[in-house]
Parts: sequence; structure tokens; C-alpha cells
Amino acid sequence: MRHLIDPMDLSVEEIDHLLTLAQDIIDNKEKYSEVCKGKKLATLFFEPSTRTRLSFEAAMMELGGNVLGFSSASSSSSTKGESVGDTVKIVSCYADIIAMRHYKEGAPMLASMKSDVPIINAGDGGHNHPTQTLADLLTIKREKGDLMFGRTVHSLIKAMSRYEGIKFILISPDELKLPDYIRTEVIEKNNIPYEEISSLEDAIGSLDVLYMTRVQKERFFNEADYIRLKDTYILDKSKLALARPDLSILHPLPRVNEISVEVDDDPRACYFRQALNGKYVRMALIMDLLGLDKDFKA
Ligand code: CP
Repeated sequence: MRHLIDPMDLSVEEIDHLLTLAQDIIDNKEKYSEVCKGKKLATLFFEPSTRTRLSFEAAMMELGGNVLGFSSASSSSSTKGESVGDTVKIVSCYADIIAMRHYKEGAPMLASMKSDVPIINAGDGGHNHPTQTLADLLTIKREKGDLMFGRTVHSLIKAMSRYEGIKFILISPDELKLPDYIRTEVIEKNNIPYEEISSLEDAIGSLDVLYMTRVQKERFFNEADYIRLKDTYILDKSKLALARPDLSILHPLPRVNEISVEVDDDPRACYFRQALNGKYVRMALIMDLLGLDKDFKA
């Protein structure tokens, strides 16, 4: 049985298939409206979410299926000490496929070993968020025409490391640099050119895609460090004036202060379209993991 736990679980060919299928869903919504009739998706969210949980649920509904689940650990029997393994074993009896977000790295992987139905990792701690990566790749493909090019960045770098013609410019303060294992094991191992710099203004004029993220308050050990670093980068109109006219600005959302609302109406702001793309690519993924894509020529 296939699960999606890490973006590297998918080959480049499988990613291309999902992105092509998602594009066909966007173009022919009616064709897919009953594909998952009689099927159920369970969303097990042990950590908060707006986009991922609701887009998964909307995806299943638009495929004609049904949804069940919980939106916080506190409303599940994990508060009584039930293990993740037991939880998925039980939910496998009620649903055909499970999307799980958990605050512990590795929890969805553990769940996949116990589950009788496909598990999709909807975010595990600071580790991976593979369906956000699919939404990011679909957005880049749709905005740029091809794939030239916290967990969202880690997953995206891993997935993009397999495409040709990539250069990464990693912009962060010293304290929030990319973890060493991603830099050495993914970027350097694949001989991908990269620079690490701290100034957004210095880099923005050379970028095709600017992928911004929130400073992740919930993963800091010390609140003073979060307060010191949280507003390091704020993209506003004055910084955007330095950017190329064909820049694509992505952000997995939610944002806090890092993109000023005055940027939202700029055609280069792709982040709301990116969230919508998340629904379509999750529709494609649900179909694929349930083996329901075979009868559909995208
Ligand atoms: N991008 C993302 O994962 O958003 P949510 O936390 O709202 O699901």
C-alpha cells in the first residue's frame, strides 16, 4: 500500500503525473465530481490547521466522497493516552484514506506502519509537509510554465533538488539558517549551486521565485528569541520595487507580519492562488493513492 510521508516518496515522474492530473481537475471539474463516491477521508489533526485540513476536506467533497475526523489532539482519545498506532488502526476501520498532522516528527511514518489504509503526512513537527510541497510545485508550474526552477522549505528543497537548472538563495538571519543536514545531504550532495545571505534587499532583484515563510513561534524554545527575530523580513511595496516584473511570491501561509497586506494586490503575489492549488493537488493525490486515477486520462 502506498503512503505519502516524505516528498522523496514520490519520483519526479509521479510528481509530474500528480501535477498534470491536478491541472486536468482544474480544467474539467465536472469530470471528477463522483470519482470518490462512497469513499471516506479521515483528517486526524493533532496540531492546528486552516488550509491543509479544510483543503483536504474540500478536495474529498469535490471528488464526491465524505469526510470525518478531528481538528485538535484535545478532542481525540490521545488525551486519554491512546497511541498514534492504535488511533490509526481504529480509524482504518472507518475511513478509506487518512490525512494526519502531528506535532511529533515521525508520527505519520509510525502511523503508516500500523494503518490498513493510505496515510498522508499533512505536516509532522519541523520535519516534512509533502502536500504543501505539491501545492508549491503546482503553483510554480502554473505561474512559471514549468518546474525550472520550517517544514515547508525543507520539503520543497528536497523535492526541487531533483530538477535541473535550480539555484537556491537561502535568505535568513544566522540563527534561522537551513539545518546542516538539508544543506549537506540534499543541496551539496546534488551539486546544486546555492548562496546563504541575510539581506532580502540584496537578493530580491535576481529571483524568479521568492518563497517566504513565517517565523515559527511554536518551535522556539525561548520567546525572547522569537520576538527578536520574528520581523527580520517584511516584504512591502518598497522592497518589491527592487524585484523583477516576473517574480512569483509564494508563501505556505499563515503569514503573520512577513508580507505586508499592501503586496496582496500585486500580480506577483501568488500565495492565495497557491492555497487554492493545494486543494486541486490534494484531489489528485487522493485519487492516486486510492488507485482511482487509472480510468482518467489527464
Ligand atoms: N500551509 C499550511 O500548512 O497551512 P495550515 O497550517 O493552515 O494548514
